[in-house]
Amino acid sequence: MKIQIISVVLLLCIYMQVAICKQRLDVLGLYPRSGDGWTEPFVKYTAELALKHISENTNLLNDYQIVIDWKNTQCDGGIALKQFIDALGKNQNQTYLVVFGAGCSVATSQVAVISYRYGLVQIAFASTAPNPGNNVLYPRFVRGVPSDLKAVPARARFIQQNNWKRVAIINEQDPIFVSSSHYMENVLDLLNVDYKVEDITLDGTVPLEQQVSILANNLRGYRIIIANMYEDAAIKLFCYLYKQKEKYLLPNIATWLFLGWFTDQWHDKQGVLVEVGCTAEQIATASNGALGFLVVHSKKHFMGQTNNNQVTIANRTTAELYQEYKELILERINNDTVRFDREFDVHDAYVYDSIWTLALAMQNASDEGFNLTEISQKQNLEDTNIFSKNSEFSSAVYNGMLYQNFIGWTGNVRFSGYERLNPQVQILEFVDGNLVYRGDCENIPYFDDFTEDSINSIMCSLDETFTYWNKETATDEINNMYTSEAIVALGVLLSLCIFA
Ligand SMILES: *[C@@H]1O[C@H](CO)[C@@H](O)[C@H](O)[C@H]1NC(C)=O
Ligand SMILES: *[C@@H]1O[C@H](CO)[C@@H](O)[C@H](O)[C@H]1NC(C)=O
Ligand SMILES: *[C@@H]1O[C@H](CO)[C@@H](O)[C@H](O)[C@H]1NC(C)=O
Ligand SMILES: *[C@@H]1O[C@H](CO)[C@@H](O)[C@H](O)[C@H]1NC(C)=O
Ligand SMILES: *[C@@H]1O[C@H](CO)[C@@H](O)[C@H](O)[C@H]1NC(C)=O
Repeated sequence: MKIQIISVVLLLCIYMQVAICKQRLDVLGLYPRSGDGWTEPFVKYTAELALKHISENTNLLNDYQIVIDWKNTQCDGGIALKQFIDALGKNQNQTYLVVFGAGCSVATSQVAVISYRYGLVQIAFASTAPNPGNNVLYPRFVRGVPSDLKAVPARARFIQQNNWKRVAIINEQDPIFVSSSHYMENVLDLLNVDYKVEDITLDGTVPLEQQVSILANNLRGYRIIIANMYEDAAIKLFCYLYKQKEKYLLPNIATWLFLGWFTDQWHDKQGVLVEVGCTAEQIATASNGALGFLVVHSKKHFMGQTNNNQVTIANRTTAELYQEYKELILERINNDTVRFDREFDVHDAYVYDSIWTLALAMQNASDEGFNLTEISQKQNLEDTNIFSKNSEFSSAVYNGMLYQNFIGWTGNVRFSGYERLNPQVQILEFVDGNLVYRGDCENIPYFDDFTEDSINSIMCSLDETFTYWNKETATDEINNMYTSEAIVALGVLLSLCIFA
């Protein structure tokens, strides 16, 4: 009887390749399913779609089945790290071959600084901050999405195209912004643009209100401001500038160049607003006309709306992928305990392609002679050379990922260094608390070692549908009409005129 059952299972295995017979390849999946920060609830479902398509591909991991063990990082570095440690500690009979995630840059970098010490390669689908992005500190980290560093040459080119020669840089004190500021400073040097760097910090050591006074004083006369900060810092900064009447620094007079990943309604965060004593409307008004530079591929392309009939690695066009994705997501949304505020997140396309990258790299390692069955029966803690980044398998998977070159949902998936390549940066305008598309910078160099030539070859163009930002009057010429003393002086003069 038993023998008969075994034979039937074996026959099924041979003829149908059913999942139960396949060797599991375990992946640890970290993503911000829910929480106070940024969330990307569809990661798991999108990965499910990718795995389904991968399993249809008869040339890919035939005897294997990728199984992802999902954990919610809540977009928090500490929680992500704890999830990682717990997963490796508690599941000692399970071997993770790769870490997928963790979503927010802070969470991703926390994990990436340690995951390689467990012999694990980590591939991210959404961390766009420059950190992590350094193959000394994060030697087994692959970015499946282009990084915000691409906004550095785009913003620099935008400055150059507008003939601005004098700019201020305001950095929130966070490694993410400080490291990208160094790139920006180098590029501005290259373009002979003068700059002054100012810092703000929300760590409580100096009250922000006081920092803003100093900042406003130091930046008197500056009209072009490169702003590297999170939404909370922007809310607080704009609130104090607005309240302290340092309005000459606000975007209706100065031009602010942010990173473009602020969420819609970013200004309406009750906790932060209460702390500083501003209303959401005041922040929306104060920020109107600022510009954001967003590193993305085309959302239209991801949604299959560009008549692109190129067939992806999944033997489906982008439109077909999006259609299938939408059906799956709708079904899952209806059954999920979490209520979702959107039906598509551009990061889903990067999730999809990153899962393919991961699978293709494992197939590559197998082709290169690694026995995945044996490797997946080892244990991360015991059998890998702990505190070494030199496990041969992780090295093979890492190089295998960076070696990939295929047509995915997001277009041509290729890497340079540790990083996903991307040719385009969108320019968005802040309009009443939302970020509205106004144009693109194309032909962004595929590397971080920028030269004057590579910056010159970028083309930034804007359509003419601005609501608040006035590109005709945006200039770095210091016009005394706009300093607050001048406004007071003008007021005095006017009243003298009236009463004279
Ligand atoms: C791990 O494997 C060992 C030996 O196969 C077994 O005794 C133990 O119960 C397993 N632990 C878990 C948590 O599955
Ligand atoms: C791709 O899809 C088409 C139809 O959708 C099918 O005819 C073809 O066999 C598929 N090719 C592969 C390699 O699966
Ligand atoms: C949705 O949930 C119901 C009840 O738990 C279940 O019967 C159904 O199969 C689920 N549908 C999907 C698509 O998962
Ligand atoms: C891989 O290892 C497994 C378990 O040790 C073994 O059964 C299998 O034959 C090996 N495969 C190859 C291709 O060597
Ligand atoms: C696997 O990837 C390496 C790069 O790490 C590449 O040189 C090699 O040709 C690939 N092997 C196969 C079979 O594709």
